[in-house]
Amino acid sequence: MIRISGLSFKYEGGRDDALKNIDMTVCKGDFLGVIGSSGAGKTTLLHAINGIIPHHFHGDYYGSVKVNGLDTVDNKPEDLAGRVGSVRQDFESQMVSSVVEDEILFGLENFSVPRNTIEKRLTDALEKTGIKNLRERNIATLSGGQKQKVAISAIIALMPDILILDEPTGELDPQSSRQIFQLLRELNENHGITIVVVEQKIMLLCEFARKLAVMNCGRVILQGRVSDVLKKSRDMERAGVNCPRVVTLADRLRDEGLYDGAIPVNIPEAEKMVRSIMG
Ligand SMILES: Nc1ncnc2c1ncn2[C@@H]1O[C@H](COP(=O)(O)OP(=O)(O)O)[C@@H](O)[C@H]1O
Ligand SMILES: [Mg+2]
Repeated sequence: MIRISGLSFKYEGGRDDALKNIDMTVCKGDFLGVIGSSGAGKTTLLHAINGIIPHHFHGDYYGSVKVNGLDTVDNKPEDLAGRVGSVRQDFESQMVSSVVEDEILFGLENFSVPRNTIEKRLTDALEKTGIKNLRERNIATLSGGQKQKVAISAIIALMPDILILDEPTGELDPQSSRQIFQLLRELNENHGITIVVVEQKIMLLCEFARKLAVMNCGRVILQGRVSDVLKKSRDMERAGVNCPRVVTLADRLRDEGLYDGAIPVNIPEAEKMVRSIMG
């Protein structure tokens, strides 16, 4: 569980607070999506959860973040790393090895995963992200999307309680992006891993996440179940988040008193909505 209370943070040398008085609880087993325009504070929020803030980035820090009861101020990212796995936005800077399998082994060996389970963890992780065939490849020769999958494999091999991902599909095509979200769902549903993911592809996010947090100028302006947050599409647009057209359509229909059902997040659901109105 992640409990964030009254968290404000200003980067050293920064002009404004990057996070402003954030209160948020992420329960065990949640699948939370975080959205917001560029500069809203999404990456900073994730840094505050995995302890990179305040340990690597310094600044003015108020409030508290507790991860499974441990205050991140008193526990370094390395100490939390067995519980919290992070795939950073600049995932390439996270990589330490030149060959794919070494990258994944590095983490497994560092976290003293029992020797006899290492090979299985390695092959499972590569299989889950669909890159078994890349196992012996040199990372430098891979595409951006393939590297992204390597970074994700290295983290899921560690089977953390909480998985934090910052725009994990940024370099991926629609099909691979879906594959990653299907993987996150599998980890969430079958292994109980708590997921916090920042994602720009809002339709994809809404289909897979169960909760949403919308950020704007360092604040969390909306949070809750996906269907409830989507009902506030005007607030989201004001925060610079481009809502899917089906969502804004549903919202307008609700305003007109024509529709009272769930907000559709894809075309088939939108079709059902329109049919229900047409009688
Ligand atoms: N290392 C840093 N030093 C100073 N300011 C920073 C630093 N990193 C981010 N910021 C500022 O903090 C704010 C939030 O940034 P960020 O969390 O990266 O937003 P997002 O991930 O939503 O795009 C921005 O105004 C950004 O310029
Ligand atoms: Mg970011």
